[in-house]
Amino acid sequence: MGWAAANFDDTTFEDPLTLRIDRAQNPHVGFGAGDHACLGAAHARVVIRTLLSALAGMVERIEVVEGEPNKRDIGGLVRLGGFTRLVLTLHPR
Ligand code: HEM
Repeated sequence: MGWAAANFDDTTFEDPLTLRIDRAQNPHVGFGAGDHACLGAAHARVVIRTLLSALAGMVERIEVVEGEPNKRDIGGLVRLGGFTRLVLTLHPR
């Protein structure tokens, strides 16, 4: 199942390629759905919220210097998942 693709559905998400952490309508399926929905979702949400809030308190801005998308070729279907290399500059507050 390509869960990530559903999160880029432009009939559901306005401007799907833009990261907006404050989307009011956000019916993403990043944690799956149905019988096998992620059991760790609540834990993951707390960890991510804590991390982002600590980071936001420390940095004014994060600049992407360079990034190499992680591409996986699965029998001709190319899937993008994160980065194999990501260089950032953190501008402190
Ligand atoms: C950002 C972090 C996480 C993401 C994006 C994520 C995503 C997902 C997704 C998409 C599924 C469904 C897979 C499928 O239906 O094939 C899943 C299942 C699952 N996740 Fe997570 N997960 C995360 C963190 C965690 C954590 C921290 C735990 C445990 C502490 C966890 C435990 C599980 C388990 C046990 C399942 C299988 C549930 C089942 O098959 O009934 N996950 N996760």
